Amino acid sequence: MSQNTDFLPFARPSIGKEEEEAVLRVMRSGWLTTGAEALAFEKEFGEYVSAPHALAVNSATSGLHLALESLGIGPGDVVVTSTYTFTSTAAVVRHLGAEVAFCDVAQGSYNIDPDALGRLLAATRNCRAIIAVHVGGLPCDMHAIKALGKRYGCSVVEDAAHSFPSVTADGYAGTLGDVGVYSFYATKTITTGEGGMLVTRDPRIATRAATMRLHGFDRQAWDRYTARHASWRYSVTEAGFKYNLPDILAAIGREQLKKAVLFLEERQAIAATYDKAFAGVNGLELPPKGEGHAWHLYSLRTSPDRGGPTRDDIIEGLAERGIGTSVHFIPLHTMPYWAQRYGLSPDSLPNAVSMFERTLSLPIWQGMGMAAAGRVAAAVLEIAGGKSA
Ligand SMILES: Cc1ncc(COP(=O)(O)O)c(C=O)c1O
Repeated sequence: MSQNTDFLPFARPSIGKEEEEAVLRVMRSGWLTTGAEALAFEKEFGEYVSAPHALAVNSATSGLHLALESLGIGPGDVVVTSTYTFTSTAAVVRHLGAEVAFCDVAQGSYNIDPDALGRLLAATRNCRAIIAVHVGGLPCDMHAIKALGKRYGCSVVEDAAHSFPSVTADGYAGTLGDVGVYSFYATKTITTGEGGMLVTRDPRIATRAATMRLHGFDRQAWDRYTARHASWRYSVTEAGFKYNLPDILAAIGREQLKKAVLFLEERQAIAATYDKAFAGVNGLELPPKGEGHAWHLYSLRTSPDRGGPTRDDIIEGLAERGIGTSVHFIPLHTMPYWAQRYGLSPDSLPNAVSMFERTLSLPIWQGMGMAAAGRVAAAVLEIAGGKSA
């Protein structure tokens, strides 16, 4: 067994002096909630991904909620999304009183299967939106999804929680549909601890989301307590939410944004190390590839039917060697809430279940270093070698 027993976590944020100084600057400024830093972060992020409207929010979950609300989704509507995602992608649909129709992935892919999506849309009445999730940072087939959206009259929302800074020939993933939402949760490539960004080209979506993000105020009243003139007056035009991103977090995001390309390059190098180590190894399948992979996740698959180790053999073997892992995702249709609500069994969407049962996510984060990547690869090979036919 490998000798190095220092614990290597599955994920760890990269916070440097720049982020620390930015936080101190805001703490000393006398303005802790949403204000100038959040506005600057929105401007810089919007310019970065070439989105005319960028709205900072306190999580991707709240951004997805705002996105669907801004599209007018409500009771009687259906929203289609993949079962292979995190629960909040679908929960926000229920928050609006609409229903979810779950779609399968294609065998070998973690993203929604456009063929299955076409069949599901043909069979679903009242579908108003598709949520495409770029799982692990690999963009979905947006051409096919947008064509289906057009054909069936559905808006296309991108759950881009994993995909910054993934860029394709058509632009950044997250800016390819009607509205996209990024996550800056602590494990994401750039982080604010908790946070997110909604982007859109549609000024109506942007205006509605901005109103609903902050209590349904008729204007963004950031300056209510500091302006010299009578800025205290505002009107409440809707029963809005409280989804704004505070300046302390926005200041971290601004610094992280400057490092996004460096972070991506490190992740690409780690992914390349893993690919090289695992290519051609009996019982291991490399993650799917494609244009603009952000490498938020490196999801390795096992094929025990070919004599290789099981997913759990590798997870346990790595844990014994002091290496953290995770699993993305437990398909939503196998979760009690979703299974019961829609009468689904694991067999209803079999590809997702087969992918999940064989998948584990290995550590991939900037700052972990190539030696650590080599250590993970060697440990996986040791475990797989011990089990291979
Ligand atoms: C695919 C996906 N969508 C949405 C979210 C929600 O992100 P947040 O934690 O920023 O609300 C997550 C969380 O990790 C996710 O993995």
